[in-house]
Amino acid sequence: MAHNGSSPTTIVRLESVSKRYNGTAALASVSLQIREGERVAVLGPSGSGKTTLLHLVAGIERPSEGHVQLAGQPLSSMSAGPRLAELVGMMHQQLDLVPHLSVKHNVQAGRLGRWSLWKSLLSLVSLRESEMVERALERVGIPEKLHERTSHLSGGEQQRVAMARLLAQQSRVVLADEPVASLDPARAEDLMDLLVSIVTESGKTLIASVHSTHLTRKYFSRAVGLREGTLEFDLPVEQLTDEALKRLYDIAPSLP
Ligand SMILES: Nc1ncnc2c1ncn2[C@@H]1O[C@H](COP(=O)(O)OP(=O)(O)O)[C@@H](O)[C@H]1O
Ligand SMILES: [Mg+2]
Repeated sequence: MAHNGSSPTTIVRLESVSKRYNGTAALASVSLQIREGERVAVLGPSGSGKTTLLHLVAGIERPSEGHVQLAGQPLSSMSAGPRLAELVGMMHQQLDLVPHLSVKHNVQAGRLGRWSLWKSLLSLVSLRESEMVERALERVGIPEKLHERTSHLSGGEQQRVAMARLLAQQSRVVLADEPVASLDPARAEDLMDLLVSIVTESGKTLIASVHSTHLTRKYFSRAVGLREGTLEFDLPVEQLTDEALKRLYDIAPSLP
């Protein structure tokens, strides 16, 4: 992993990035620099642009204006494929697992870009690839589900499959869109524990949208607040005040 002397390299850089959908601005002139190994929580009310920001970093969406760089390279010069998959992986809010496939195949699909899905389906995968899938499932605590049909798993187990898929992809940047939003508080913390330890033990960078300030303070090093597509704050979590959070989520009083 490339490091510049003692300070970690900038792994994600957004320069005045705007995104419009049919004329409405989902993000407006957002600039951000994220260093390798940071854990960044993206906060903001619904519709503030959190998912859009993650999609722009993942290369799923292209900016209307401005530039995104990953590891010093313009994202616009990279097409979906192995190079991009090594850099960035994303866990979507809807997990995007294929329900009728086995857990094994869903985890292997994390290597999509390195391994095409048909190869995975035909099991034309090397022993090393299979071992990686098994290790990933072990790491997330469900090794016995390898051959199970994914739709037969509980919600929490499916969340673990999505994490195993991310783990198998081995990207340097991990993006997660509200990774634990659908879980009760105790399970949410279990899964955040898991996600954060997977990320930190291999020096990865995490950028996740979160809706809980408790989870933000417990698991992240930095908090970025979005409001109506603009950057409201960008702070180390120690400096995140209740005041700033209140302003972020405050809804303008409606007229009587
Ligand atoms: N594919 C899309 N087409 C049109 N509008 C979109 C699309 N994706 C997001 N938007 C709009 O962009 C704004 C930001 O959305 P989003 O990034 O999903 O916010 P958040 O994740 O914070 O809820 C919203 O107004 C949303 O309606
Ligand atoms: Mg969203």
